[in-house]
Amino acid sequence: MTAKPEFINGRTVTNAVDNASLARHRWYPIKEGFSPNLVADSYRELGADPKKQVLAIEPFSGSGTMPVECTRLGVACLAFEVNPFLAFVGRTKLRQADPKKLRTQRKTVLKGLRQPAVSQLESISTFCEGKGREKWLFNRNVLRTFTGGWQEIEDCPPTQRAFFRLALLRAAMDNCNAYPDGKCLRYKRLKSYDCFNANSVIAQFEHYCTLIEDDLTSTPFVSNLSKVECMDSRGLGNYAPQRRFHLCVTSPPYLNSFDYSDVYRPELFLAGHVKDNSQLMRIRLQTVRSHVQANWKAPVRVSFGTIYAKVIREILARKDKLWSARIPQMIQAYFEDMERLLNALAARANPGALLKIAIGTSAYGGVVVPVDFILAEIAEEAGWDLKDVQVVRRLRSSAQLWHHEDREKKVPELRESIVILKFPERLGVTH
Ligand SMILES: C[S@@+](CC[C@H](N)C(=O)[O-])C[C@H]1O[C@@H](n2cnc3c(N)ncnc32)[C@H](O)[C@@H]1O
Repeated sequence: MTAKPEFINGRTVTNAVDNASLARHRWYPIKEGFSPNLVADSYRELGADPKKQVLAIEPFSGSGTMPVECTRLGVACLAFEVNPFLAFVGRTKLRQADPKKLRTQRKTVLKGLRQPAVSQLESISTFCEGKGREKWLFNRNVLRTFTGGWQEIEDCPPTQRAFFRLALLRAAMDNCNAYPDGKCLRYKRLKSYDCFNANSVIAQFEHYCTLIEDDLTSTPFVSNLSKVECMDSRGLGNYAPQRRFHLCVTSPPYLNSFDYSDVYRPELFLAGHVKDNSQLMRIRLQTVRSHVQANWKAPVRVSFGTIYAKVIREILARKDKLWSARIPQMIQAYFEDMERLLNALAARANPGALLKIAIGTSAYGGVVVPVDFILAEIAEEAGWDLKDVQVVRRLRSSAQLWHHEDREKKVPELRESIVILKFPERLGVTH
């Protein structure tokens, strides 16, 4: 294990600080994203022959950092994301359109925004103000402005719709009374939420449209070089198996019991990806089993290497200290999912392929789960050669989570690492 400085070239690699300012990435950055520098640095490290077509793969696309950065570098990337809203974000960031035509069409959408329309979400609990509700996500005028604009976008040319939808969703979320904070949505600390209204939605929509137009001009993309599939990447083994990859940089959900589909609940509903909680549950059930909220199928495999065996024994011995009885099973299920994925990646890796996994460790019942090393053991078993585990960040935020969830005084030190693996030259077949 090597300790990598917290900053590489003055920038962190496992969090998305850069994404808020970089062309295309900034259209919709997310807290759990990694830095595009990790992608660019890894591509350089791969040392691929510039004349050879490199294929990259990303099983957990999130906001699309990997496919967007690959495309910027001229590398084709095949990405997967189970959350339809995030898949939409990634796909939109890959699109190209004429910025001048977008600017002209914007006027029509603005007309729609100035004609508020009743939203179906008004009746869904916590979405909107209503009798007996103390808190709600969107003021009624915000929701209605959004709906007026959304309906107008339906009539825009298909090549432009996605950009307007993304700009409007981002504008609505800026005017949401809550914000995503890791595990949950947290209400903004304001004396009043009246500052969020039709005018502020329109102003933000205009702001994001301008940003998109600027980036389409400054950073034009070749359409169709990369793509984002909306699917459960645990089924990767069955997807176009003839396509072998050279580079994979990915950040799976951490084993931290966060359910990302819950965090993106407002966007999923606003964009019409889900209509009710049962549809939301269907998405949750397709995510990696890193949380206990959904009633997923029980895991069957029990053996994931020596470190896992020791850790799970210790956790089971402290069962009474856990905040949910399902935690040991969640840990087992998580590594079963990751084992399946690492096997599928090994089956389609080119000789010498580089795989980097950005991951955080977790702690339950006073026991640290060294997810990075357990993944390294599983990957080695799947045929990958372990090159390094680089610690890139010590996690300071664990104290609050720890006290809250495990009611212990001692705060264990958690870390974020990058597990670096190479596929052996002898086992693969070059394509
Ligand atoms: C840590 S985030 C990835 C962030 C990404 N690297 C970025 O820069 O935006 C993990 C992502 O995995 C997605 N995910 C969870 N389970 C999945 C599955 N079974 N198949 C595909 N994606 C999944 C989540 O929706 C989430 O967007």
